[in-house]
Amino acid sequence: MTFENACKSLADPGNIGEQLSAVVRAELARAGADLNALREQAWTEAYVHLPNAFDVEGLPATPEGFLPLPDAEGTLLARASAIAAIATLGLDTVSYGSENDGALFVNLIIIPGEGAFSVKSRSSMHGHTDAVSFPVRGRFDSEEVRIAPSPDFVCLSGLRNPTNAETTVMPLSQILPQLTDGQIAELKKPQFIIRAQGTFRDGTQRILGEEHLVDGGELLFDVNDQLWVRFSHSSAGADDDEGAAADAVEAFADACKTCAIGIAIAPGDIMLINNRIGLHGRTTVEGEAGGESRWLLRTYGLDTSGLNPQQRHEDSVHKLFP
Ligand SMILES: [Fe+2]
Repeated sequence: MTFENACKSLADPGNIGEQLSAVVRAELARAGADLNALREQAWTEAYVHLPNAFDVEGLPATPEGFLPLPDAEGTLLARASAIAAIATLGLDTVSYGSENDGALFVNLIIIPGEGAFSVKSRSSMHGHTDAVSFPVRGRFDSEEVRIAPSPDFVCLSGLRNPTNAETTVMPLSQILPQLTDGQIAELKKPQFIIRAQGTFRDGTQRILGEEHLVDGGELLFDVNDQLWVRFSHSSAGADDDEGAAADAVEAFADACKTCAIGIAIAPGDIMLINNRIGLHGRTTVEGEAGGESRWLLRTYGLDTSGLNPQQRHEDSVHKLFP
């Protein structure tokens, strides 16, 4: 395959994911590894870190915005490896039309300047799940059934990390034992206000006619034999500052702080964070924008088998609604 064709093939992640994961599965079988055990691990542990998953070669200077994503050998391998990892877990690589115009991969970099996105690109980030205002898989938004579920996995590919900035993961399995049964019961009630995260605000406004907001949503969900979470310190909370609901949110946020695991994603690493049973965040990113500064690529993985056609955009094979 020529470099140009390889870059083009990423536009259909379902097809290329199938091809690449077939190779991965054959290699796993050859090594005597159990694919089902691997998949199960991804659903019991809050993250899977794959060090040295791909070669980082031929990288241009670090970009200074979420987009555009430069076509170079390094970013091609980073993207193909992310798609392969997600497909090996039996999931599809997806994007949302309402975030960064539906781009399948975005740069996570230092954004120059003084604006809110610039400040946010350097500051530490509290624990959250991504696409927090969207329903978890298997549920629907109470007002707009076309809204697709938030992703099952957030997938990060490491390109540069000169200051070893850490991605943090807070496993739900370590948060819940710190809460009382009463607090857990409160978090399961449909009583919370959940605002779209910053990267989804303009896009949901444009596509839905108003910024997405859930008025009366749950933060914890009973799914099969698991508890799933959606949470954001800044975008999700109780209606009232006082009372049992607010106390439960405060206890949850406090518990998050005690169990953050820090992982410095190195060049060539793939990190899959389970967006149902873990929260993620980040330590402060030091340095100046551009040059050789920190650079990760991000995409999402989702089991799309239960989606209906209305939950997708018609003009794309990977872009979900909104
Ligand atoms: Fe995030």
